[in-house]
Amino acid sequence: MIKDIIKLAPIALLALSACGGGGTVNNGNAEDRFVDSVVNSLSLKHKIGQLNQVTAVGVEEMEKLAAEGMMGSILNETNLDNLHRIQKAAVDNPPHIPVLISRDVIHGYKTIFPIPLGQAASFDPELVRQGSEISAIEAASDGIRWTFAPMLDIARDPRWGRIAEGYGEDAYLTSVMGAAAVKGYQGDDLSKETSIAACAKHFVGYGAATAGRDYNSTFIPMRLLRNVYLPPFRAAAQAGCATYMSSFNDNDGVPSTGNKLILTDILRNEWKFDGFVVSDWFSVGEMINHGFAADMKDAAEKAINAGLDMDMVANAYKDYLETLVSEGKVSESKITEACKNVVRIKYRLGLFQNPYPTVSQDVKYAPEHLEAALHAAEQSAVMLKNNGALPLKNVKKILLCGPMADAPHDQLGTWVFDGEKSHTITPLAAFKEAGYDVTYVAGLTYSRDSNTSKFAEVTRAAKSADAIIFVGGEESILSGEAHCLSNLNLQGAQSELLETLKKTGKPVVAVIMAGRPLTITDDIKNTDAILYMFHPGTMGGNALVNLVAGKVTPSGKLPASFPKNAGQIPVYYNQNNTGRPASGNEILLDDIPAEAGQTSLGCTSYMLDTGFGPLYPFGYGLSYTEFAFSDFSVNKTEFSGENDEIKVSFTIKNTGNYEGAEVAQLYVRDLVGSITRPIKELKGFKKVYLQKGEQQNVEITVPLSSLKFYGLDDKEILEKGEFEVWIATSSANEDIKWKTKITVK
Ligand code: BGC
Repeated sequence: MIKDIIKLAPIALLALSACGGGGTVNNGNAEDRFVDSVVNSLSLKHKIGQLNQVTAVGVEEMEKLAAEGMMGSILNETNLDNLHRIQKAAVDNPPHIPVLISRDVIHGYKTIFPIPLGQAASFDPELVRQGSEISAIEAASDGIRWTFAPMLDIARDPRWGRIAEGYGEDAYLTSVMGAAAVKGYQGDDLSKETSIAACAKHFVGYGAATAGRDYNSTFIPMRLLRNVYLPPFRAAAQAGCATYMSSFNDNDGVPSTGNKLILTDILRNEWKFDGFVVSDWFSVGEMINHGFAADMKDAAEKAINAGLDMDMVANAYKDYLETLVSEGKVSESKITEACKNVVRIKYRLGLFQNPYPTVSQDVKYAPEHLEAALHAAEQSAVMLKNNGALPLKNVKKILLCGPMADAPHDQLGTWVFDGEKSHTITPLAAFKEAGYDVTYVAGLTYSRDSNTSKFAEVTRAAKSADAIIFVGGEESILSGEAHCLSNLNLQGAQSELLETLKKTGKPVVAVIMAGRPLTITDDIKNTDAILYMFHPGTMGGNALVNLVAGKVTPSGKLPASFPKNAGQIPVYYNQNNTGRPASGNEILLDDIPAEAGQTSLGCTSYMLDTGFGPLYPFGYGLSYTEFAFSDFSVNKTEFSGENDEIKVSFTIKNTGNYEGAEVAQLYVRDLVGSITRPIKELKGFKKVYLQKGEQQNVEITVPLSSLKFYGLDDKEILEKGEFEVWIATSSANEDIKWKTKITVK
């Protein structure tokens, strides 16, 4: 031990004494003492070095930057030998501060979990926590101690390809899932060798890009920002998220990377965040394109003064901060502060004591990781339709077809750098492994394929099949960053293939693997059952077999409303009431006689061709089994004060023929407010797993403080008055099981 300590650089010894050998989370004074002692002794240049994040630019160059103390963090280098060389250069040379190694570990590192949108459909935060923990363990085995996840952008527009990376359209669901992910990545103790720092991104409003075009401007007024887009980020701060990433978009004219209101006033001063904020990729430099900064120097000045601590790959801080200090445009104390924020997180990660990875390589694709990924894929699947075709009964021979039935790369989904398709279990592999008599005729080779020449062969093959399983959707590259679409119908000739399948008269089960809600309105009639699996990850094939075989009952619920067509977007469940709310009995296009006279009587807010509601509402999903709700009660009817709690109790019984899970969803409506209030808002949920015949008493608690909102003067208020509270199995009124009225006094 003594010998080991002697080998450590002096700064590591300091860390050891400051944290008593076991630095964990905020260690109060010991941590402050350590951070102060490290940072206060640094030259200005070395402080700036900590604020510079470099992408893989060749090991020699990175080693040089590390040795000079000019690289606080690195991303996209995963070669362990290279990383060792770089880290050694950093800790062996002044200022002896280890480099923070980062990577986009978004929904798995080697073992790939369903895309986050799919995980959100599970409505099971523990599953998200566990998936993130496993991702952290696998990533840490390659030296990665910082991930750029979770993405907490509210997405009300599925044209935006990055809807795949987040938890959907709802602020509450996103807050709960985001906090679970932070806990999973970071664990209870960030200094543990298997914990990695999380990064809440993209701060903020990025998902509201105009018309769903990535990187586009957003125009989110302050109240909407406060009430919808900021809450998941606040929840991440409360969960102890170590870092944040500023977003690419300019909101109402101010790029996030130069937005002091967001980065300093709200994040630091209101939420008391004490980690660090990194820019998005080159977003400091992009402020020039925005026309918000004249040149790179101006951009560096605006970013650091707004509260942006670390510059991702733009080199703006490295090249200009020293000059800006000498010119008096940036104070050295601002740089010291930013440097302390970075060093604080490195300290919490235990990097000063253990700069090198110690996690065994064997953790990758460990059996328990694959098991968790299987469970996650099963729980993420949402059954949208079932006329009795599922679960399969008396089915021996299956015709498996469609472009995603054997697409090991594409079923992994977007943002997969490290997971290997050779480990993917596709539906084809899984059906064979499960012993089904499978005939596989893809029909279409990839999702955009419009060549119908194989359809005749599919039809022939269907003749001897008991059931057809079509697996379609979209390739992984069609969603994710910069992959936005204006038409969300099934790509290529997939709809025609479904039509052809329907004509065979055999039961057609459509399985959709996609990164977003697709507009499958016209395809529904050509199916007997629909399972929406999002991109399910490594174990998607096995999950599908278990689901269709009835070993596992579908229990996913939609984390975003499914539009009828792209022209209906944005369509989301928690909109404000209009002065002319739709009644559901509106006339539609075909009801209008020719030469109809002008009329506005009875007109409400809807579209003549799509009506009012979505194709499938938020929170919706079917099951094989049935659930009976009973014995509802609320703890009282009058509430007051922020510390009060609404407790709704009830019993759920599985009255059907399969073991399964139901998601009880608690919604509220503030009937009259000082500003118009949403017609419904999810404020609590519980997923309850029940055996056949089993029942459980459930209680959902809603802190009264969660009824607060930002009102007229940008202040958060709890308004007095009447609220409706209900329990439902989706956001649709038809699925309400019980409703009551309460009063806030
Ligand atoms: C994305 C971020 C990502 C970063 C680093 C950017 O293009 O917007 O989400 O973390 O690249 O790869």
